[in-house]
Amino acid sequence: MNTPPASTNNQQSTPNHHLPEYTPAQLALRNGQDRDEIWVGYKGLIYDVTRSRLWRRGNHYEHWAGQDLTKELQKDAPHTEHVFDKFPAIGRLKTPAPSAS
Ligand code: HEM
Repeated sequence: MNTPPASTNNQQSTPNHHLPEYTPAQLALRNGQDRDEIWVGYKGLIYDVTRSRLWRRGNHYEHWAGQDLTKELQKDAPHTEHVFDKFPAIGRLKTPAPSAS
């Protein structure tokens, strides 16, 4: 028998599709001001950076948590996305429905 391993057991791929979806408004509540949780949106995922000393009160080098910072990381940051490696992705960011035109 030569059965390939089930893809759901692949430790190397994170099953992000199982994560709950949050709207931009729900993400905005986790900006470090209104609640204790501090979340950052990046490439469709939401990372919980609450325990980071570098994101205290939701602020990180003039960037604010509670929103999608994909473009900002690519444009401004002196580091790569590997800074997220030690933070769990806790959700997926719902993109606004395309406007009818
Ligand atoms: C002016 C722009 C920015 C500056 C100067 C900056 C600077 C830094 C520095 C010095 C560190 C710690 C050392 C390192 O890992 O390289 C860090 C960590 C980090 N940065 Fe940024 N960053 C910027 C923008 C961003 C943006 C836009 C994001 C989110 C998309 C981000 C997410 C993070 C995260 C998650 C960490 C890890 C925090 C930790 O380990 O506690 N950074 N940043």
